[in-house]
Amino acid sequence: MNINRRKLLQKTAGAAFAISAPAIFQIANASDGFIEFIAEETKVKLYRPDAPASNLWTYGGRSPGPEIRVKRGERVQVRLINKLKEPTSIHWHGIRIANAMDGVAGLTQDAVPPGETFEYDFVVPDSGTYWYHAHNKSWNQVARGLYGPLIVEDDKAIFDKNHDLTLVIDDWRLNRTGTLDVASLGSMMDWSHQGRLGNWLTVNGDGHANTTVKAGEAYRLRLINACNARILAIDPNRFNAQVIAYDGQALTEPVSLETAALQIGPAQRVDLLVIPEAGKDFTIEEISGNQSYEFIKFEVKDTMVPVANQISLSPNHLPQPDIENAANFRLHMAGGAMGDLNGITYQGKLLEGDDFRKTGQVWSFNGVANLPQAPFFRVKKGQTVIIETFNDTAFAHAMHVHGHHFRVISHDGDKIDDEDIWRDTFLVDPNKTVRIAFVADNSGKWLYHCHMLEHVAAGMSTWFEVT
Ligand code: C2O
Ligand code: CU
Repeated sequence: MNINRRKLLQKTAGAAFAISAPAIFQIANASDGFIEFIAEETKVKLYRPDAPASNLWTYGGRSPGPEIRVKRGERVQVRLINKLKEPTSIHWHGIRIANAMDGVAGLTQDAVPPGETFEYDFVVPDSGTYWYHAHNKSWNQVARGLYGPLIVEDDKAIFDKNHDLTLVIDDWRLNRTGTLDVASLGSMMDWSHQGRLGNWLTVNGDGHANTTVKAGEAYRLRLINACNARILAIDPNRFNAQVIAYDGQALTEPVSLETAALQIGPAQRVDLLVIPEAGKDFTIEEISGNQSYEFIKFEVKDTMVPVANQISLSPNHLPQPDIENAANFRLHMAGGAMGDLNGITYQGKLLEGDDFRKTGQVWSFNGVANLPQAPFFRVKKGQTVIIETFNDTAFAHAMHVHGHHFRVISHDGDKIDDEDIWRDTFLVDPNKTVRIAFVADNSGKWLYHCHMLEHVAAGMSTWFEVT
């Protein structure tokens, strides 16, 4: 199950099949009362037209679900109607949200049982690129399609809707018939290794995404990694793109990267600014494998009228951490294949022998698999927190803090130069230590977990409390 196999699938898909613009079903105004999100089983064709449809789980009949588009400070009201056969909930990833609306089944709410509803009602404090996804058994529900984009526009829109493109990227694991491989969901092999990697990449649900752009005009591309576990890599320099935001938070100005590969971990977002050149069609390629894989094509049309592209971004106002007076906490990540499975406690019991197989718990944070009774830490509202996370495992992880954005202040002991980046999810490689800092200014119980959805299911999750 690697990129090569995916490439193979792509090749056999046939050229007769072309789909135009990567369509996103937009909701005009989410502030006009409740939007209904029906979570249900839906037949969707993921692969070629002559292949059978897959049984996905969707919001509103397709995956990704509808794009919610609002302005900074507006209210979002979504009524989740659960027509699935298992309980579910929705998490609004990256939104600095009121705790009761965070959607974490088992921590901030009970999962919504089949046949029941739940009303999410919150205000979005920051502009930027966010997303929503199921947060009950996410390894299963997100893999089956329960996610979508949530875009918060800047106060004064810089890009009109034709120049503001959302690209939700997912890697699906298809079986030999070209349908979603559900038999391998929950595979312990995935849970204890890299997580569930797919073999078929889609952009907005489309395996052959392509769109038309105009030469000389500025476009904002909002890339969202909705994969269960794949770290995507792209090279923005190949198509002269600059980064304008990470994880929703705008930079003060567009930045050209010096390194070749930009890694986008599961749940991370990157917004790019691109001004297509006349006569230069381009593609975005995924370059993490040994062969690059083209996942969206842009056909460039010449324009008659040259336009001035004055891009001025308006970063959100987030509270600056007070590093001197921070409370420091350390997280030791362990376990997994080729890792240390000694001393892992789960639900108060030390795991050994057959216990791992029975519980499915193979990863730990500070010796504990999954949510401990007592929080990882508890701080008063307004306290600056530094979390030092040491990855003592053989795999990379994508660590996500709920309810807050943070600054990465050091990576493997080295101070970070681009310290003015805010993120809600960071990548940590094996044997590396990453320190993050943020002001714990949002009251409630918040998760801190790996966003590789098999890892979180198999133990990589803890919580903290802001009082
Ligand atoms: Cu996007 Cu706890 O997750
Ligand atoms: Cu992980």
